[in-house]
Amino acid sequence: MTTASHELAVHATGLVKTFGSTRAVDGVDLDVRRGEIFGVLGPNGAGKTTTMKMLATLLSIDGGAAEIFGHDVRREPHIIRQLLGVTGQYASVDENLTATENLRLFARLQGIRSRQARARAAELLEQFGLTEAADRPIAQFSGGMRRRLDLAASLITRPPLIFLDEPTTGLDPRTRGQMWETIRDLVANGCTVLLTTQYLDEADQLADTIAVIDRGRKVAEGTPDQLKTQVGDSTLQLALTSGEDLDRAARIVGETTRQTPVLSPELARMNVPLSDADDAAEVLIALRQADVSITSVSVQKPTLDEVFLALTGHDTATDDDHEEAA
Ligand SMILES: Nc1ncnc2c1ncn2[C@@H]1O[C@H](COP(=O)(O)OP(=O)(O)O)[C@@H](O)[C@H]1O
Ligand SMILES: [Mg+2]
Repeated sequence: MTTASHELAVHATGLVKTFGSTRAVDGVDLDVRRGEIFGVLGPNGAGKTTTMKMLATLLSIDGGAAEIFGHDVRREPHIIRQLLGVTGQYASVDENLTATENLRLFARLQGIRSRQARARAAELLEQFGLTEAADRPIAQFSGGMRRRLDLAASLITRPPLIFLDEPTTGLDPRTRGQMWETIRDLVANGCTVLLTTQYLDEADQLADTIAVIDRGRKVAEGTPDQLKTQVGDSTLQLALTSGEDLDRAARIVGETTRQTPVLSPELARMNVPLSDADDAAEVLIALRQADVSITSVSVQKPTLDEVFLALTGHDTATDDDHEEAA
């Protein structure tokens, strides 16, 4: 099935970016439909930020082509910048200014008149739950408040497309949840969101479509459900009392779930991919009926590492696994 390109917020084909001998982005195709949350999922160093920066005109495109709402990114950079809200661009906020002062300043820099700038700042602070903190200097803001202010600043011009580069990395769980709500609200109000993340659960919670990126290449794409069925929705981890039961137990598990368990004989353990978490109960019943004794049981959601291993045959560690410079 193809989507007509005028229905696409982002249409990119064969994107390439090289830094010296590194092909940071190595032929990536991306189609983001209007009104969706599109998640680019991958480990540190996969090429997520570089891809986003090329689409946002912040880095030149070395190969391939990209359109935003039908406008060519290379030929029409001024139009692209008007269509886009990009977070992270406002990192150099003045710590001594208050939240209100910062937003007004950004609005003025975008050419918005003083009165409208004031109104827009108040509206955004309200929308992001920052009204109470409006008159506090940024220096006193928590990490979560800073992210929300950053996002607010990127929305001053009401862009139809928003790029969020790892919007929740480093946030505590509660603040992450608030950011997820904020992102859902944006889409409910008609925005399209392209976000990058290192977290499978974040992509799962938010994204309509996920592209998995590894070493500059797209290795999989689909809905969260489509991706998860490739690795199983969850994993049943079993430790047996006796390693001698392992083969017999594996046969029973195979018959019950139609999945092939991954065995660790030295630990008398096995991991069973489950497409339906209810199958875990069936497995336990079948094992008890066969008198296989178990010392521990757990059911876990797949991690990004497991998705990666299933899709690429290697783990998410890269030989270039340092933090990117701030
Ligand atoms: N300005 C740069 N100069 C040289 N190499 C870079 C630069 N930016 C990124 N890279 C390299 O490109 C690869 C992809 O980086 P990046 O897009 O930041 O990945 P991600 O955002 O997925 O963590 C990494 O190997 C990184 O070291
Ligand atoms: Mg990055």
